Amino acid sequence: MTYVAKHDPLKCRWCGACMELVACPGADEMVCIGCGACVITCPHQAIELITGKREKEISIYVNKKKFKVSELISVKEALVELGYQIKNHAGEPGMFVPCQIGGCYSCVMMIDGKARPICITRVWEGMKIDTVLPKEYTPLRVVTNFTGHSVGGVGTPWELKTGQGIIEVGCFAAGCNFSCPTCQNWRVTYLGKEEPKTPSEAAKIISELRKDYGVERMFISGGECTLNKPWLVQFIRELKRLNLDPAARFHVDTNGSLLDFAYLDELMEAGMTDIGIDLKALQTETFMCITGLKEKIKAEKFKETAWRAVSYLVNTWEGKVFVGVGIPYNKELITLEEITMMGRRIFKINPFLQVSVLNYRSEFRRNMAIPTTKEMKEVFQALKETGLKNVTVQTENGIIGP
Ligand code: FES
Repeated sequence: MTYVAKHDPLKCRWCGACMELVACPGADEMVCIGCGACVITCPHQAIELITGKREKEISIYVNKKKFKVSELISVKEALVELGYQIKNHAGEPGMFVPCQIGGCYSCVMMIDGKARPICITRVWEGMKIDTVLPKEYTPLRVVTNFTGHSVGGVGTPWELKTGQGIIEVGCFAAGCNFSCPTCQNWRVTYLGKEEPKTPSEAAKIISELRKDYGVERMFISGGECTLNKPWLVQFIRELKRLNLDPAARFHVDTNGSLLDFAYLDELMEAGMTDIGIDLKALQTETFMCITGLKEKIKAEKFKETAWRAVSYLVNTWEGKVFVGVGIPYNKELITLEEITMMGRRIFKINPFLQVSVLNYRSEFRRNMAIPTTKEMKEVFQALKETGLKNVTVQTENGIIGP
């Protein structure tokens, strides 16, 4: 099946996101290859993919075998035409294409001798695709907004969040496997247009920033920073190599959906010291509403992987890693009853786990009123009553702590 993007001028608000953020593979020649990156990125849902007919076929080589595929499609789509499957987890068989906007570089293959993301690369006549990366390949991904941060994340101990000065330095990874209509950081999440960086390049910038700001903590957040496992593990390892002093902390903020035990072990062995896992929900329907995921089985797997990741870290790596969990709150998305049930499940894992509740507001594609301070106090109270000892909630008037 081939597609083209159709723009609806009545829905468009001319915000410029499709021009500023999207790594459009057909922009130079003003053609559309139907990759869908602009559809995923547009905050006003003013672009949709419709089926499009391709007149011509071209020849490409996949692992040295010649095939005919439609012209003007992405390499990913060409491989799907040839029978390749898409997978949701890196460990499953098939192609791993989790962000589809050219941010995570998990989908990279060797194309005419250069590593390129297949989701946003257009096929051309005679293209030579090698689906297996060479051993010497150094992972890449788009990471941006290298900066000092005064607020911290879900994996930052709340006592450090004084609002006074910079407490961490780090960066944000582009690309996500969720499509949250309330994405709180969408200009970074969908920024496929930036040049990618190697783990060493990113670690070097952050280590320099650490010196400049004189802080102990370094972070990576997103988007979803765990999508590209080889990149993230090498990045943490490299950060540690450049920051050997015992005070240095290496903090990962994530949705946890891909963190199986082997991945967590690798991150711990690489040097991760702090992690924030955003649990989103307990019920799969709520999880789908918050994340924008449409397939129930996939959503259930992502949700439970995140919950299991928290238990595993607490039980297996106790004392070696600081674990914080995040819960979103807005009455439009999740009930107080479900928040309480989440609190009970977290209590069973460990009553002293840090739980940060974020007051979700209108962002990206969703309009809703920000929770009032009174509502957030009710959330705080409900979680305290489950027996949890370390709850914080974000309100319009600052953080309420334990
Ligand atoms: S899936 Fe292609 S770059 Fe993320």
